[in-house]
Amino acid sequence: MHNNNSVDRQEFWDIRKSIANLRDSKIREVANQAMGRNDVLPFWFGEPDEITPEFIRDAAAQSLARGETFYSHNLGLPELRQTLAAYLGALHANPNLPLSEANLAVTSSGVNALSLAAQTLIDPGDRVVCVTPLWPNLVEIPKILSARVECVALDFDAQTGWHLDCDRLLAALVPGTKIVIINSPNNPTGWTISRDEQLAILAHSRKHGIWILSDDAYERLVFGNNSRCAPSFFDLADASDRLISANTFSKSWLMTGWRLGWLAAPPPVIAQLGKIIEYNTSCSPVFVQRAGIVAVRDGDAIIARTQARFRAARDHLCSALNSIAGIAAPPAPGAMYAFFRVDGMHDSLAFCKKLVAEHGLGLAPGVAFGDEGEGFIRWCFASETARLDAGISRLAKALAA
Ligand SMILES: Cc1ncc(COP(=O)(O)O)c(C=O)c1O
Repeated sequence: MHNNNSVDRQEFWDIRKSIANLRDSKIREVANQAMGRNDVLPFWFGEPDEITPEFIRDAAAQSLARGETFYSHNLGLPELRQTLAAYLGALHANPNLPLSEANLAVTSSGVNALSLAAQTLIDPGDRVVCVTPLWPNLVEIPKILSARVECVALDFDAQTGWHLDCDRLLAALVPGTKIVIINSPNNPTGWTISRDEQLAILAHSRKHGIWILSDDAYERLVFGNNSRCAPSFFDLADASDRLISANTFSKSWLMTGWRLGWLAAPPPVIAQLGKIIEYNTSCSPVFVQRAGIVAVRDGDAIIARTQARFRAARDHLCSALNSIAGIAAPPAPGAMYAFFRVDGMHDSLAFCKKLVAEHGLGLAPGVAFGDEGEGFIRWCFASETARLDAGISRLAKALAA
């Protein structure tokens, strides 16, 4: 017979240690406090505030009206894979890396793409290196597969923002490392990798047979003049490189709720992915993929408009934050977040909980993105100016109190 108390303990149920040891989301810990309250202004999640454009929604509605309600290919509709290959080929124009349908797998969201990539590459005990602060999913997903994850922290400068010490990263990429995970533009900092840093990482990874897992969710959300896309490993790689890119329709095409993403990788990897997609979701819904086809094919104007809108929102928010004494908020070159330092604030979780409870302001604590993020706060600026202004005055009031 078991003692009554034992059923409450993890060991009783024999849950895998890798799962029991995963971190809970500290963003959720703050957001859960606001359950049932409609007076809170939320900026904690990374989500544009606009509805998906009508022509994209129409494509899904028409697909449903045609009765496309059945299973489809594990790797996605050929038309979507071809459309993505043409899109990426035009975006990166790299003659050494011709991309075709065979390089593409459609996934049920960006986070699903990352999980599938990790499942394809990681054996228990493999060493994975991440550049942090970082969206927690990228650090935790490899741990589900019992990888050993090591983090290399970016450095912060109050004037110029976040920087990579590339030598430190290369030193961490010792022979035997399986994967380096790079998310650029980065969530939460907006840090965007330079071409020189990419060249150094690619050369080093080639030498040691290390996979580069590039999370390109924000590659189109860059704020430099006339920039269509952030520097990409796809601009540089050739067909023999161990490069896998995870991407999503969520941010560039304003489609967070659709749960559609993709992986671009060498064809032999895509063939393996076909197997594990069968055992995972089996396929993405056809009507969602139909929406994806028109988004990629006809969505460039949407991306250009979103870029301009987010650039203005970033400038507005950062200049307002910087005018508050004790805050350092250098504008980042990409993504959709201000990740700012608050002088004298050493417990970002407690501070963010207090902001919700006492001031009705929902922000994400920096510590949610790793210990390096302590002392910082993340604010998603994909929002109307009036809403940002209301949030800023609540923050100013909280700091004055
Ligand atoms: C860096 C990064 N990668 C991937 C994703 C995944 O997006 P989704 O699962 O909505 O496609 C997100 C979402 O916030 C993200 O911030």
